[in-house]
Amino acid sequence: MYARLIGTGSALPQTEVTNDALAQRLAQDGIETNDEWIRTRTGIEARFLADASLGEGTTQLAVLAAERALAAAELTPADIDLIICATTTPDQIFPSTACQVQAKLGAAGGAAFDVQAVCAGFLYALNVADSMLTSGKFKRALVIGAETLSRVLDWKDRSTCVLFGDGAGAVVLEASDDAGILACKTYADGRLGTDVLGLTGHLDNGVLAGDPFIRMDGRQVFKCAVEGLSTSGKAVCDEVGVDPSDVALFVPHQANLRIMTMVAKKLGIDMDKMAKTVACHGNTSAASVPLALDVAVRAGNVNKGELILLQGVGAGMAWGSCLLRY
Ligand code: UT7
Repeated sequence: MYARLIGTGSALPQTEVTNDALAQRLAQDGIETNDEWIRTRTGIEARFLADASLGEGTTQLAVLAAERALAAAELTPADIDLIICATTTPDQIFPSTACQVQAKLGAAGGAAFDVQAVCAGFLYALNVADSMLTSGKFKRALVIGAETLSRVLDWKDRSTCVLFGDGAGAVVLEASDDAGILACKTYADGRLGTDVLGLTGHLDNGVLAGDPFIRMDGRQVFKCAVEGLSTSGKAVCDEVGVDPSDVALFVPHQANLRIMTMVAKKLGIDMDKMAKTVACHGNTSAASVPLALDVAVRAGNVNKGELILLQGVGAGMAWGSCLLRY
């Protein structure tokens, strides 16, 4: 029994903000940055930012992405008995984003819950969904990554605020005898914790305690990301008995083109096979992998029967890779 990928979808907020536009906006607060720095250090050229006044938020983006994935799979919400949403920026603490998505889709009856593993969230959600489908307990899952990280960025901290964007991506997985997910491995090292990448803000007796913004030691994260993605990518390929160069579509976490390029080189994967939506989306955390996957699938960059390698990494530190046959 496999969990087979049968549909993808994604959604972005309406407002695109280029590096130049962002630099101009930050300059009004005396923060200096520029397109050249952002592009050469990260590969990012623009990002989409949610606007609450337009009704945009994590749940709304998740619902849109889910509807598009269901349409691609030619299914209706009633066909889904499991919804897992990976998010670090839910619109509210509870009920979970997955339960809100379930209600808005009209898919009541199955199980729905969130997974919180920050930028590795989609890989974790995929691994959980794979286990639940191949156990025989569930038939069809919607696995979503959705974020509005713009709400937790310190717009006066140029070392983080230029990096992130908002969006959502979703996949439909079905329990099947035909090949689908072949290997999925997730890892964490909690010792590389809040000091490396964290957001300590929380509610305490009705008031906000801690720091409400993302803080990051970029260089440390960079090193961990290259190591975690390279080793986990190799591990899933070894488990299946294929060489990473056999992969037709490589979708690493879209955080930094330099990280992605180094990982592709270490794994021996041709750069032409790599999804590179970081340029137009920035880092959308748990949404980045399903968003990039959907763009690649819709562009016709992978054919049925070919191998896809998905990878996520982020705060925790947490990371993982998934090898699947499309
Ligand atoms: O999803 C997982 C989460 N995050 C990541 O994967 C991010 C991983 N890390 C990175 O992508 C990179 O480390 C960064 C893009 C964040 C930073 O690149 P870097 O090459 O490691 O630069 P740096 O932090 O060492 O900073 C170099 C310089 C500093 O100036 P000085 O001290 O050399 O004078 C910074 O102050 O660049 C300066 N700087 C900026 N300059 C213009 C930092 N941010 C900016 C900015 N614009 N936005």
